[in-house]
Amino acid sequence: ERTHGGSGGDLRFTPVAPNKEDALTIPDGYSSSVVVRWGDPVLPDAPDFDFDNQSADAQNKQFGYNCDFVTLLPIGRDRGLLWVNHEYTDENLMFRGYTGGAAATEEQIQIALAAHGGSVVEIERSGRGGEWKLVTKGRRRYNRRITAQTKMRFSGPAAGHELLRTAADPKGDTPVGMLNNCSGGTTPWGTVLTAEENVDQYFVNGDKVPEAQKPYITRYTITTGTPSTSRRFDRVEERFDLEKHPNEANRFGWIVEIDPFDPDSTPVKRTALGRLKHEAATTTLARDGRLVVYMGDDSRFEYIYKFVSKDRYIPGFDRHNRELLDEGTLYVAKFTGDSPAAEIDGSGKLPSDGLFDGSGEWIRLVSGDKSYVEGMTAAEVLVYTRSAADKVGATKMDRPEDMERNPVTGGVFVALTNNTNRTAAQADEANPRSANKHGHVLEITERRDDAGEKTFAWAIPLVCGDPKDSATYFAGYDKTKVSPISCPDNVTFDKDGNLWISTDGNALGTNDGMFVMPVKGKDRGHLRQFLTVPVGAETCGPLVSSDQLSVFVAVQHPGELDGATPDNPGSTWPDGDQPRPSVAVVWHSRGKKIGA
Ligand code: FEO
Ligand code: CA
Ligand code: CA
Ligand code: CA
Repeated sequence: ERTHGGSGGDLRFTPVAPNKEDALTIPDGYSSSVVVRWGDPVLPDAPDFDFDNQSADAQNKQFGYNCDFVTLLPIGRDRGLLWVNHEYTDENLMFRGYTGGAAATEEQIQIALAAHGGSVVEIERSGRGGEWKLVTKGRRRYNRRITAQTKMRFSGPAAGHELLRTAADPKGDTPVGMLNNCSGGTTPWGTVLTAEENVDQYFVNGDKVPEAQKPYITRYTITTGTPSTSRRFDRVEERFDLEKHPNEANRFGWIVEIDPFDPDSTPVKRTALGRLKHEAATTTLARDGRLVVYMGDDSRFEYIYKFVSKDRYIPGFDRHNRELLDEGTLYVAKFTGDSPAAEIDGSGKLPSDGLFDGSGEWIRLVSGDKSYVEGMTAAEVLVYTRSAADKVGATKMDRPEDMERNPVTGGVFVALTNNTNRTAAQADEANPRSANKHGHVLEITERRDDAGEKTFAWAIPLVCGDPKDSATYFAGYDKTKVSPISCPDNVTFDKDGNLWISTDGNALGTNDGMFVMPVKGKDRGHLRQFLTVPVGAETCGPLVSSDQLSVFVAVQHPGELDGATPDNPGSTWPDGDQPRPSVAVVWHSRGKKIGA
């Protein structure tokens, strides 16, 4: 079938209307099913899920909580490995009568540790169309759980550095577990990159570290004291108490590489990619073949980064390629607008040149053992990357979430989810709205379309919100014909180059969902809602399969509402009883391409 290169010509579905249904709502003519739920057996010897009789032993073998990043690695046309991040746990919804970590049973805390991390599950196509099912029989040799207790290793320039050493790991090279894995990416050699994001919340006594470390505890907003809302992981593993083990926090907040095809492999925390509240790690190749990784730091007024490997990717030379992420240069982005500052007043009104746009540069932070940041060693730049970026004049963004490069146009798209703290005086052309409730999407066009370059042009094709609100922009498309959208979080592209966006935290009062928007041609900006998720859920993934017959969506934290408990759940999706975070798949009922 002919494609239209991101121009949206094949997108003919009728958009889903905004709603508050406790359901996964999809367009007419489409079908959906749940592929895998929290608690489903992952390892062949895992017990069936039993909400009222949970155990850490069982959870260690079952699908974890709060599915986020999803990727599908094919093992043939009708089989594949689904990798899924388990970002965090909602104990209030997982356990009856839960009142916080101080009163939790140790078993509950162990269950929470086991419900973090990620899962590899084998899935198979069901029938000839776009439906996929969990493989539930046979050996399932790749199936694997990775948790907050899985042994890992550090690699790259900061591995073994003093700042990463602890009593349990005096060499500073064997961290244990990963936490808060949000979005991610894949490498050209078939591994998964998974991004540790809000790791600050798992520690206690951040205020009781040595004086020299305190500014960094603050910069990374790590928990001080022992608040009642804390999970109190320290009650079962002392390392989470920073008074006793102040460097343990430095061992989280990394990009972790996992080889889903080798269930015995040790996950690797790649220190060359810096330490921040990592959202994503999307790879592409520079013109000369060097590997490039785009990464966002998802907090208000944080930065956008990219890593460029020193050596080139060589197809098929696995041993060489697997070291590319250990040596290279880490950059942070600076955005400069091209319109007069007086025209950027925080209102979101377009400047007189008709576009929020301009030029930018990638500022070097560190390259191997060489630091480009005054007063910081290379290892310090990598462990305290936020503080390094503060010193070089990078642009503070409205919560950089996922990033993805368009396979057709080469543009690099960034979701900036929101930033209600930005004042009018702090508005700049790349973050043009004060009290930015709904977020925007920014496109970076690297110089000569080469991801290895150090300068770029940029523009904002989408300023989110209710299209009736004059402070929104849909790439100039007729706003009476687009869907409202708020809080873009994850982004992906289909093979035709159409941009798919999923949202988290819809500030328009309806449920979150997934959208598609052509980025070129006459339909550029014609944003349409493809699905909505149940009450209280955020929309993760999304993933459009390479045959374009299936859309995978991770329905994260259904029922996560203030005061919700198992006896009063905010949602009963997907099975009509306790809410269970799940990955679902959506396909055209007559086997047509997604969006048709
Ligand atoms: Fe976990 Fe930035 O979303
Ligand atoms: Ca402009
Ligand atoms: Ca996210
Ligand atoms: Ca988010």
